[in-house]
Amino acid sequence: MKSDRGKILILVGAPGAGKGTQAHMLEQRFGMPQISTGDILRVIAKRDSDLGREVARVQKSGKLVSDEVLAEVVRERTVLADCDHGYILDGFPRTISQAETLEVLAREQDREILAIYVRVERHELMSRLTGRRVCPNCNEIFNVHSRLPAVDGVCDNCGHGLFQRDDDHEETVARRIATWSDQTKPVYDYYRSTDRLVTVDGAKPVDQVFREIMTAVGICEAESA
Ligand code: AP5
Ligand code: MG
Repeated sequence: MKSDRGKILILVGAPGAGKGTQAHMLEQRFGMPQISTGDILRVIAKRDSDLGREVARVQKSGKLVSDEVLAEVVRERTVLADCDHGYILDGFPRTISQAETLEVLAREQDREILAIYVRVERHELMSRLTGRRVCPNCNEIFNVHSRLPAVDGVCDNCGHGLFQRDDDHEETVARRIATWSDQTKPVYDYYRSTDRLVTVDGAKPVDQVFREIMTAVGICEAESA
């Protein structure tokens, strides 16, 4: 089987589908960097600047940050040396305009795109997101229902305190899910119509979803050993 390390892998899915969880596992297993636009924007949101305040406001509202900001963020990040052998996009593109930006980037970088749609039914998303706890230091993801840390409130990975994201409260989650349906579902259609989309069942346990993704992208265990 052919290695996919030179590709741009995109994880597409509703809020809470498990994009971050799976992208992190792919990064650890294969060394392709996980580029989470949500995480990058959360760092920008802490800055004492007009852009920082605007990003914080939009993230808290459950809407999308502008395509212009995202184009710059992704362009700057994907030219770094750790992307030389491909990378994983988690949470980008989220609009057709962002998908078009990525087509240009992929052509410039001479890379193919493969989108992985992590499908989870809507009713599952709310409990996943309101139960999520994250590490602000290493971005490890936990869950009070399905993935508890060994010590309550402490990251297994780095020992930092865990926190609940500002946008993981019920009202904002509902808005994020609506934003996904309105603005990001067309991105799924876009990759499907161009035969670059594979679907995995995100409702299965984390390890099974991971195995489905590896099969879908044609990465075999032997290659990574
Ligand atoms: P972002 O941070 O990308 O949030 P999101 O897309 O809403 O997705 P989430 O991170 O909430 O979910 P996930 O799919 O990563 O799930 P996770 O693996 O954590 O974006 C946040 C905001 O930033 C946006 O609302 C927007 O404002 C802005 N933004 C970001 N990108 C943008 C862009 N491109 N354009 C414009 N604006 C942008 O899993 C969730 C929980 O479920 C965890 O607790 C996990 O442990 C658990 N879980 C995972 N998998 C399973 C499983 N298989 N079974 C049971 N539980 C599971
Ligand atoms: Mg995420």
